[in-house]
Amino acid sequence: MTDTTTSTGPTGIPTRTLGSAANGTALEVSALGLGCMGMSAFYGAASGESSATDAESVRTVHRALDLGVTLLDTAEMYGPHTNERLVGRAIADRRDDVVLATKFGIVPATDGGRGYDGSPENVRRSIDGSLQRLGTDHVDLYYQHRMDPQVPVEETVGALAELVAEGKVRHIGLSEASPETIRRAHAVHPVTAVQTEYSLWSRDVEASVLPTLRELGIGLVPYSPLGRGFLTGQITSPDDFAEDDFRRSNPRFQGEAFEANLALVGRVREIAEAKGVTAGQLALAWVLAQGDDVVPIPGTKRVAYLEENVAAARVHLTGEDLAAITDAMPAEAVVGQRYADMSPIEE
Ligand SMILES: NC(=O)c1ccc[n+]([C@@H]2O[C@H](COP(=O)([O-])OP(=O)(O)OC[C@H]3O[C@@H](n4cnc5c(N)ncnc54)[C@H](OP(=O)(O)O)[C@@H]3O)[C@@H](O)[C@H]2O)c1
Repeated sequence: MTDTTTSTGPTGIPTRTLGSAANGTALEVSALGLGCMGMSAFYGAASGESSATDAESVRTVHRALDLGVTLLDTAEMYGPHTNERLVGRAIADRRDDVVLATKFGIVPATDGGRGYDGSPENVRRSIDGSLQRLGTDHVDLYYQHRMDPQVPVEETVGALAELVAEGKVRHIGLSEASPETIRRAHAVHPVTAVQTEYSLWSRDVEASVLPTLRELGIGLVPYSPLGRGFLTGQITSPDDFAEDDFRRSNPRFQGEAFEANLALVGRVREIAEAKGVTAGQLALAWVLAQGDDVVPIPGTKRVAYLEENVAAARVHLTGEDLAAITDAMPAEAVVGQRYADMSPIEE
């Protein structure tokens, strides 16, 4: 665990490389990206395409690009579709400044819930829809959002490889895949990045996924690096959430789990205050310190939060700091699973 920033981009934010030159997958990105999901879904902001919230979201994307953040993260299922349209509008005049990442493979199920579709037909259908909504002729990093238990990953990645050959996709990624699936996919076409939840309170990736990625030369893109906002210390009651907020049904935000986890965040906040940074910045700096192959994508729809989060790339943590932070929030002390239904998550 070191401060391993590789170089500095034109506007001052450090850059990192996902993938590896040896695999022919090196993809240079800002050390920290911008997660766009919450602009349209899950966190109590139903995207209205022209609402005041959308206007602030677009300003947030522009500010991110101005600050040198290049990696933008969206998905077909955010909305669905509204988030890709929003991002497409925001980057219409600035496509060349962006490393654009989106995802496919989560589809509506016939019972009204969620299904998973990794079929080659769905890969081709999805990319064309995403390109149209994003207003571009290529996606820089295209992830399979969840693995489809009915379709061997080799078939899905075979279809992705065709998209690379056609120029519609530059790099391929997987989200929430097991080490075995990652190896099988990588054998068909080199994978540039794996996206999964990783933060101070979600550290299961350290056991076998991260070592596998390092062995294969694949980057890690941690999602929800702020613990869906909880690690900022700004959420102090489940009542803070809107009625339709996803976190109301997430196990870590329920009753006694919420209280136990809040006590842990309080300890992290004390360390942050002593260092003169916010708890969120400390949480992001901790993720960034896990290696130069790690590129977190904190999500926000507000310019002020974005600016605070980007500044975390400049927070230096010593070995002592890192040990104190993990002591303050030991992984085993966190109460509640990451999702109420862990079945689509490969371990
Ligand atoms: N692959 C997957 O399955 C998957 C799953 C989840 C997320 N993701 C991706 O990862 C991205 C990030 O994850 P996330 O959005 O779930 O979680 P996150 O980055 O851990 O936290 C986002 C939440 O924190 C709040 N926040 C952000 N900066 C803050 C600050 N400085 N101070 C106080 N609050 C702050 C945001 O508020 P506001 O919304 O009010 O700005 C939002 O509620 C998503 O946008 C999405 O692109 C991928």
